[in-house]
Amino acid sequence: MPVLNIPATSANLGAGFDALGLALDLYNTVEVEESDVIDIASNDDIAVPTDESNLIFISAGDLYRVCGRELKGLRLRQTNRIPMTRGLGSSSACIVAGLVGANRLLGDPLTTDDLVDLAAQIEGHPDNTAPALLGGIVTAVFDGRKVHWVKQEVRTKLKFAAIIPDFELPTEKARACLPKEVTHKDAVYNLSRAALFSASLLTGKLENLRTACHDRLHQPYRMELIPGCREVFDIAYTHGAYAAYISGAGPTVMAIADESNEFFAGKVKFSLDNAGLTGWTVHEFRIDNEGTRFL
Ligand code: HSE
Repeated sequence: MPVLNIPATSANLGAGFDALGLALDLYNTVEVEESDVIDIASNDDIAVPTDESNLIFISAGDLYRVCGRELKGLRLRQTNRIPMTRGLGSSSACIVAGLVGANRLLGDPLTTDDLVDLAAQIEGHPDNTAPALLGGIVTAVFDGRKVHWVKQEVRTKLKFAAIIPDFELPTEKARACLPKEVTHKDAVYNLSRAALFSASLLTGKLENLRTACHDRLHQPYRMELIPGCREVFDIAYTHGAYAAYISGAGPTVMAIADESNEFFAGKVKFSLDNAGLTGWTVHEFRIDNEGTRFL
């Protein structure tokens, strides 16, 4: 049975709201096989929808429809390592698994560009789905139909510490708290920093990242929904992080640290516990430069 490997993703990267995202070396795997019936199960103890409401199945059905076919059934076996509703791209991983898996079953009729477009249409924004498909850091503009994107591989020696709380924050709630309008000044504040972020990350001008990940479009509002968030940022910077930002819609905080910053995760966890933030765990990842692939 073909097995798909789909990376977790971290979107926004501070100022690049709905535009920047990168892939991490944490993977869901999904076994995909043709079937006349819907036959869905977990390979682990994480409960997933086993009927037509399963997001992998829905996305596979969307691709079939685009190709003029009807999807009646599918056999899926999911291993879910990406934590759900935490800002690490778990729903994008499902969308991408459904699209890439269904495309393979039909003999790969759609191109990579088609898949990037379709995934963004399903999710509504491209900053998790595009890096999940492509790997690396992806800069993307979604015009409502097509995604105009650039993928760049990251070779800089960095670790990404995901500081994950023990509570969920649904993306809809984290989007509902955002203002409908912003000032011209705040728009300039963000666009200059978003541009600075990817250029600095890719050229190794890492001392810029702290300024580059500041933003005025979403993080100040979302912080109010994430108890302890400000302290988590402070702790990450105390231990030498280049940058700390809310990963995607949150509630995970992502800290970027140098490879040479030994025991970064352990130091952050120790300080969190000391501050009474015992519900937060810290997990270190590296960039995934490959994106979704069959194993
Ligand atoms: N750009 C999205 C957001 C990512 O911040 O709402 C979460 O899906």
